[in-house]
Amino acid sequence: MYYNFDEEIDRTQSSCVKYELLRAVFGRTDILPMWIADMDFKTPDFILNAIKERCSHGILGYTCAPKTYKDAVLSWFERRYRIKTTWENMHFIPGIVQGIAFVIQAFTQPDDKILLATPIYPPFLNVPKNTGRIVVNSTLLLKNGHLEFDFQDLEAKAKECKMMILVNPHNPGGRVWTKEELRQVAEICFKHHVLVISDEIHADLTLPGFEHISFSTVSPQAADNSITFFAPSKTFNMPGLASSVCYVENENIRKQYFAYLDANELSLGNIFAFVGAEAAFRYGEPWLEQLLVYLQDNINFVEQYLRENLPSVKMIKPEASFLIWLDFRQWAMSQTDLMRFLTDKAKVGFVNGTDYGIDGTGFMRMNIACPRKIVQEALERIKKAASL
Ligand SMILES: Cc1ncc(COP(=O)(O)O)c(C=O)c1O
Repeated sequence: MYYNFDEEIDRTQSSCVKYELLRAVFGRTDILPMWIADMDFKTPDFILNAIKERCSHGILGYTCAPKTYKDAVLSWFERRYRIKTTWENMHFIPGIVQGIAFVIQAFTQPDDKILLATPIYPPFLNVPKNTGRIVVNSTLLLKNGHLEFDFQDLEAKAKECKMMILVNPHNPGGRVWTKEELRQVAEICFKHHVLVISDEIHADLTLPGFEHISFSTVSPQAADNSITFFAPSKTFNMPGLASSVCYVENENIRKQYFAYLDANELSLGNIFAFVGAEAAFRYGEPWLEQLLVYLQDNINFVEQYLRENLPSVKMIKPEASFLIWLDFRQWAMSQTDLMRFLTDKAKVGFVNGTDYGIDGTGFMRMNIACPRKIVQEALERIKKAASL
């Protein structure tokens, strides 16, 4: 079966955040939105059909996680992450950000310190701050064309922290961390009693030539000192269904976390999350393989376009997912001027690099999960505005 990722679908009348919040976020609506991390591709039919079929039953009552859903999740874990486990070690979670916010509440107190390797996905800066925790950041180094940990700095900072939130693969840098890198993170955190939260939402979007390594699999220390989050939401363009899972091997950590979720009545999922996720994990692989090829081609397109037309804009080539971290530092503009230029002159909506922390100064994040025509249009707009 061939899937057509060039199809353009009008999302404007669908209450989608990407369009609905344009004015609130960018101050105008006449821009190409390439910001929030969902895709403009159609959610695959095997997911939509499963939902329609469930609707045909006629009653949408309280629903618990079906065995068929749990089996599909477990099978996906074994096939794709080399995690062979049972449902007892897992828990349904609506959204990953919520799941991590619950972990913060369950395992830390106000004024505790949380370690982040920055730049990082903005909610991981905001949730700790908004709940009275203190963020400690270790700047990722731009080396060999991609982001790398500064392990000396990470270890120095880990000594004072209770928890580390690791984004694996990384957003915004698109890094697929190697086993050796993850092993070092595990060792440092274990040594200093820092609980590792591994957010692996982008795992399935690891691009050809790279391999996703799930954190808990890298060493006994990693398995014993972590909570890992996964979701089909990015992969199959269904974040509106809020369907994620967490996986915890250590019994004490698991009991403490699951008890927190149960005590706060956070355990019940919802019908369409189960149905959608089960369909994704059961039937999704052929679609995903084609998606990854299309995304890689979009990334290659951006790389070539920049090289030929805008060589002063450098791209940190992603190893996973559909988000490109663009380096505009050669333009030597203030962050405000750069954002204004892109929004008001080029009329493209990228995420401001400093939303990912101060280390994002001079950078912008571009979402290329859309028909190639749109990617091309965005780049042409920037080129044209830059030549005015
Ligand atoms: C690293 C990362 N974690 C979590 C999320 C959001 O997850 P959820 O919608 O499940 O809260 C995103 C969305 O962009 C993300 O990039």
